[in-house]
Formats: sequence, structure tokens, C-alpha cells
Amino acid sequence: MRGKFITFEGCEGSGKSTQLKLLADYLKGLGVDFVMTREPGGSEISEEIRKIILNKDYDKMCDECEALLYAAARIQHLREKVAPALDSGTLVICDRYVDSSLAYQGYARGLGAEYVAAINEFALNEFCPDLTVFLDISPAAAFERKHGADENDRMETQGLAFHEEVYKGYKKLTGKFPRICAVDCGGSRLETHEKIKKLLKDKGII
Ligand code: TYD
Repeated sequence: MRGKFITFEGCEGSGKSTQLKLLADYLKGLGVDFVMTREPGGSEISEEIRKIILNKDYDKMCDECEALLYAAARIQHLREKVAPALDSGTLVICDRYVDSSLAYQGYARGLGAEYVAAINEFALNEFCPDLTVFLDISPAAAFERKHGADENDRMETQGLAFHEEVYKGYKKLTGKFPRICAVDCGGSRLETHEKIKKLLKDKGII
């Protein structure tokens, strides 16, 4: 049987990395076989593309180039790492996926969700997640919690107004796709972890 494919989404500072680490430890404790990976990146070629996308010196990068590079990193990562794991029945958990492209490039950059969906058709059709966990916290609250943006990251330094648009984008996507479940992560990290565990149990993932 094909493995389940779970993705995690959220704005900068939503605590995704912390939650994914807590989840990984929990799954290990349960003895669950899983692969945890991330976008952009997750495979050698995709990690190289990631370096280009996030390089803060590349301020000339146009929005279409950005969207296509994310899509290029995505398909390589899918073919090389995600698909073989799913085919062997392994649970795959991915830190960011196509909804990041829809929220950041489609809505916040203003390329349009249709354009971004079209260049990511493979992800939305062939590799559609079974469940997407959206860590729901506003960018203002998230940046306050993490004490500001990472100055070396081209995307993080886009300013609060940009990240507010990303957040609004995620809210629209949550209303549109039933596979996306919002988890309020304004509480403590352990409270959020408990909510995520419950969601995964309720959805029959674990
Ligand atoms: P990363 O340092 O991994 O951010 P985070 O820890 O918040 O996940 O950098 C990934 C950045 O790329 C992040 O700002 C979100 C952005 N991004 C897009 O704009 N589009 C995409 O399709 C993906 C996957 C990420």
C-alpha cells in the first residue's frame, strides 16, 4: 500500500521546525517508519536550487523565476526521494510543499493561484498530500515570538506586509482544500504538539 503523504505549512516563525522535531521524536518512540524531509531542498539537486532561491544577494530574481525554481526543486525532490518512499509504503512528512508556492508566489507575490497551480500540476494531481497541517499564527505574532526575521534569508526579509499576504493566502487555501487542517499554534509548543498528535490520530495517519 502507498504510504501517506503529510505536509506542514505556516508562516515564518510559526514553529514548524520545532513541531516537526517533536513529531519525529514521537513517531520514533512509537516505532513508526517514516521519512522526514523539506522544501525547497530534500535532495542534492533541490538543495542546490534552494541555495539560489534563498540567496539574499539575488534581489533581481523575478517572481516567475522564483516560482519556477520552487517548482523545479519540488519535482526533483518528489522523483528522487518522496515517490520511492511512498511507493515502499513509508509515511512521508514534508516541511512545506505546494501550498507554500500558492501562498507565497500565487497570493503574496501576486502571480495568481491559477498560474502557480498550473506550473505545479504534478504536485496537486499526482502527488497530492493526504493531509496538510497549517500551523495557524499571524506573522506579527510569529515574528514577535521569534524576535524578528533572519537577515540572511531572501524570503524572510520581505517585510511584514508581504508575510501578511502569505497568511491571508493560507487562510484562503484552508477554506478551499479540505485536506488542509488549521492548527492554532498560539499556545505553548507542547500544547501545539498535542493538537498535532490528535489530528494525525483522528485522520488515521498514526
Ligand atoms: P526556510 O528557511 O526553509 O523557511 P521556514 O523555516 O520558514 O520553512 O525557507 C523556505 C522559504 O521559502 C520560506 O520563506 C518559504 C519560502 N517558500 C516559498 O516561497 N515557496 C515555496 O514553494 C516553498 C516551498 C517555500
